[in-house]
Amino acid sequence: MQIGIDQLAFYTPKTYLDLVDLAHARGEEPDKYRIGIGQYEQAVIPVTQDAVTLAANAAVKVVNETNRDQIAMILFGTESGIDHSKSAAVYLKRLLNLPDNLRAVEIKQACYGATAGLQFAHDYVRLHPDKQVLVIGADIARYGLNTPGEVTQGGGAVAMTISAAPKLLNLDNETAFRSEDIMDFWRPLYRTEALVDGRFSENVYIDFFKTVWLDYQRQTNRTIADFTAFAFHLPFTKMGLKALRAVLPEADAEQQKQLKTNFEASRQYNRRVGNLYTGSLYLSLRSLFDNAVLKPGQRIGLFSYGSGAEGEFFSGTISEQFDAQQSRQRFSEFFSSRQQLTMAQYERLFSQQLPDHDVLLDVTHDDARFVLAGIKHDQRQYLDRN
Ligand code: HMG
Repeated sequence: MQIGIDQLAFYTPKTYLDLVDLAHARGEEPDKYRIGIGQYEQAVIPVTQDAVTLAANAAVKVVNETNRDQIAMILFGTESGIDHSKSAAVYLKRLLNLPDNLRAVEIKQACYGATAGLQFAHDYVRLHPDKQVLVIGADIARYGLNTPGEVTQGGGAVAMTISAAPKLLNLDNETAFRSEDIMDFWRPLYRTEALVDGRFSENVYIDFFKTVWLDYQRQTNRTIADFTAFAFHLPFTKMGLKALRAVLPEADAEQQKQLKTNFEASRQYNRRVGNLYTGSLYLSLRSLFDNAVLKPGQRIGLFSYGSGAEGEFFSGTISEQFDAQQSRQRFSEFFSSRQQLTMAQYERLFSQQLPDHDVLLDVTHDDARFVLAGIKHDQRQYLDRN
């Protein structure tokens, strides 16, 4: 039985910063950001969007009348949670009007949370092939103004439905993972911005990638020759390029060319949105599906990394029903309709934080269907403006 990703949608707000403007403002060469880091633009998230609304705006694209009653679980990966106790998944369930007889929980392990959700969903659907699981990765990546991490900020959400006979990717059963207590990136409960040991985090990422890739090959007897493309967690797109370069020498010249071309396809969306933490790998997969020339049956390798740290290499084959046409069209319309911010507008939006008392937010500048309208009696007030 084939099980995997049936639908994969993405949402990010329309406001963005051009990183050439950021480079000028920070006294850096634009090429450092565009080539050295591999990022062109960065999504800027208004205060009227949080992990729940980002997720709802993505999920509404994959939940419809045909699958609504099949969804048995929401697994919500995030490291931008809005409550220490109550899960973001329960809010999401209400906003999507899903029935009460489902499980709704939040999963946290830095950028790895959505992959944990995907693998748990894979196992669940194997036991219950008539059911679907809604897997979310929703985050806002914040390092702070004037920090080295600033150029790698971003945000948004991916929503995936995991089912039997999926339309996009059939997941292979074999997977290789590793976890280790490492302080490369973390965010204590009292902080809204992450702390990071930048270079060290890059080294741990590569180290984890090499280890799980080797372990995967041992388990499966597959080699690089079995792969048409790799999709990586992309905190910034140069990171994925560094990982790809670590394995390219294992391929012959012809295949190296194919893997590089497909890597370019896989980073097109990410380099214009930035890091969305849990969603980044899956945004890259969406970008690959939409911008590469792929055929049913071809195998894709996926590397998920969450600081702290957890890494996993797994794979899947393109479904017979695969068709990326419509999605490609929607994304090109989306990117051409975004609103570019000046540095002053970016810094103002970035610095707007929710107060810890009741507040009514101005939602007129946010065109999303789901918005955060304020806080009342310490409870977030969400609006569905459909
Ligand atoms: P930095 O110190 O500003 O940059 O920090 P740099 O000086 O290292 O330069 C970056 C690259 O630009 C270098 O290339 C330079 O040579 C190049 P590299 O050696 O890396 O190949 N460069 C130029 N290239 C072309 N033209 C030029 C030029 N000038 C320089 N003129 C850093 C960069 C990424 C460390 C920083 O932005 C940062 O700390 N970011 C956040 C941490 C991060 O994203 N880590 C990634 C791995 S950890 C991870 O993926 C998990 C994460 O997503 C969180 C989670 O799991 O929740 C972050």
